[in-house]
Amino acid sequence: MGSPLYDLLLRRAADDLLDGGPTLQVLEGHLDDPGPSALALRMMGGVHALVLSGTAPDLARYYPSASPGAVAGSPDEAWPAFAATLEAHREEVRSWLQRPPQTNEVGRGAALVGGLLHIAAEAPLPVRLVEVGASGGLNLRADRFRIDGEVASYGDPSSPVQLGAAWFGVAPPTAEVEVVERYGGDVDPVDVSQEHDRLLLAAYVWPDQLSRLERLRGAFELAAAMPIAVRRESAAQTLDRTSLVDGTWTVLWHSVFRQYLSHQDRDALAARIEALGSDASPRRRFAYLTLEPTRRAPEAEFEFLVTLRTWPSGEERILGSASGHGIPTTWER
Ligand SMILES: C[S@@+](CC[C@H](N)C(=O)[O-])C[C@H]1O[C@@H](n2cnc3c(N)ncnc32)[C@H](O)[C@@H]1O
Repeated sequence: MGSPLYDLLLRRAADDLLDGGPTLQVLEGHLDDPGPSALALRMMGGVHALVLSGTAPDLARYYPSASPGAVAGSPDEAWPAFAATLEAHREEVRSWLQRPPQTNEVGRGAALVGGLLHIAAEAPLPVRLVEVGASGGLNLRADRFRIDGEVASYGDPSSPVQLGAAWFGVAPPTAEVEVVERYGGDVDPVDVSQEHDRLLLAAYVWPDQLSRLERLRGAFELAAAMPIAVRRESAAQTLDRTSLVDGTWTVLWHSVFRQYLSHQDRDALAARIEALGSDASPRRRFAYLTLEPTRRAPEAEFEFLVTLRTWPSGEERILGSASGHGIPTTWER
């Protein structure tokens, strides 16, 4: 899935597990964990955190995230350092097996901002941005990112977050976006003002995907200059404290979040969205913008579609499709 380093290390870890080596010592008690818990990613996140925090310098030599220019090389080179790290830090890595991987993918801002331009083009009103499943809330500042693409560019060229090669297809509309309020919620929020939480988000990015890490670090910089609290609450609770305001767009967005909801949660969210929609008028508008794995038709494959619904009309449309990490986004309208 785009990480040669993890490809090499996980193959060796699988053999090591069967041979009863340090991988088994670390994963003991978790071998029946269900597949979707992503046990391997939890373990790799724990090891990456040791690398990024300077605790595993011998292994860091093979991790491009810690040693720019490092190459995966052959497993025979990186593996002994990886195995030694598992052995020396068993309990620290095991503590990472308890919690679900937590990410905040800044590239998804490219897809969300394109949708925001459609909203601003529909009616030039200031925007109140609300994000559910916001994680660290990094994308609540997506309007401050710089986005460059084949078909258009957006934003401040000196932004700490630079999303390059991001937009293909049809150019999104040109429109002024003014965000006047922003807030979000998450059942398991990440506080990016805390070093520990920033390390957590960085640790789950694969170490040889440097552009993802660069975006994340740029978004940390933007967050330090522009703090936004993400409340610990469910999406339904975030919407319970949300109402429309005259003279503005209230824009609710989420990305790669819906799959985590129970049927009950989905129904609760949908009911609240309908209620907000029915309160909308040309003076107080509501938009629901998502980047989610979605099927265009019941038999179709899942794609990461950017969909937008705006009220008072309630019209829904697919704006385009993206990669799971948001870049590239190909616009269809
Ligand atoms: C894969 S992460 C995506 C985070 C962020 N939206 C992004 O695109 O980077 C999914 C997020 O949804 C949150 N989440 C799951 N169920 C939730 C719920 N019922 N209400 C609010 N947040 C929830 C998780 O804690 C996690 O932060």
